[in-house]
Amino acid sequence: MFEDIAPGIQLVGRFGRVKAGIWFLRHGTECAIVEMPDIVDEDDIQTPWDTLHEYILRKNMYLKFITATHEHVDHFYSVSDFHGTFPEVPILVHRDFFLDPNDVEVQTTYKPADLEEGTLSLEDPSVEVEDIPLYCFDGEVFETHLSGEPLYLVHAPKHSLSDTLVVFRGCMITADWWLGSGDPNYNQVPVGQIHNSINTILRLCKGKNYVIHAIFSTHANEFRRNVNLEELMEQTRP
Ligand SMILES: [Fe+2]
Repeated sequence: MFEDIAPGIQLVGRFGRVKAGIWFLRHGTECAIVEMPDIVDEDDIQTPWDTLHEYILRKNMYLKFITATHEHVDHFYSVSDFHGTFPEVPILVHRDFFLDPNDVEVQTTYKPADLEEGTLSLEDPSVEVEDIPLYCFDGEVFETHLSGEPLYLVHAPKHSLSDTLVVFRGCMITADWWLGSGDPNYNQVPVGQIHNSINTILRLCKGKNYVIHAIFSTHANEFRRNVNLEELMEQTRP
């Protein structure tokens, strides 16, 4: 567990039936976690959430939030286990996690400043699922930071409508995005929306003068380093 992938980015491990990663991001004294996979207990007595809890305490860090790259079960199943271990830590996701007409309705959305003030774990949640408070953001980019180092959550549907890519320290965790040409688009995301997602990422980099040089699939089965992002994004357009 805790494999160094890039400066400030560790892979806690790969969990669940289809092996999705849990990612640990840190800078200075602040940290964040990405993904809540289904966790199949095989021989382990301790869950990754217990291990992370001990690790964060030992390192004396502040866990600012957890997020997930999309609402599919292999990324968002252990929400209640996470909440059980970290009841004070906000679970922050894009509002389009709840697009299904059978889902609960998103009441309020939150801005980066709300996260900064530490009020998300106390105030009205955006939705409550099985008594677990969840906090939603709206729009394309949620711009926050860990101890001053920028961290962007980019709503960018391509694999699914709730896709949220995570950009930190020049690296991007690309959810379950198909990279390269020939995307089978299994979940039938509208083509216009895919173009828009690609444009959002390119616009973010251009607007911030931010270079993304590495790309990691969230299942941690693909690591591309020294990438030409623009070229890669153009290749993967429908
Ligand atoms: Fe997945």
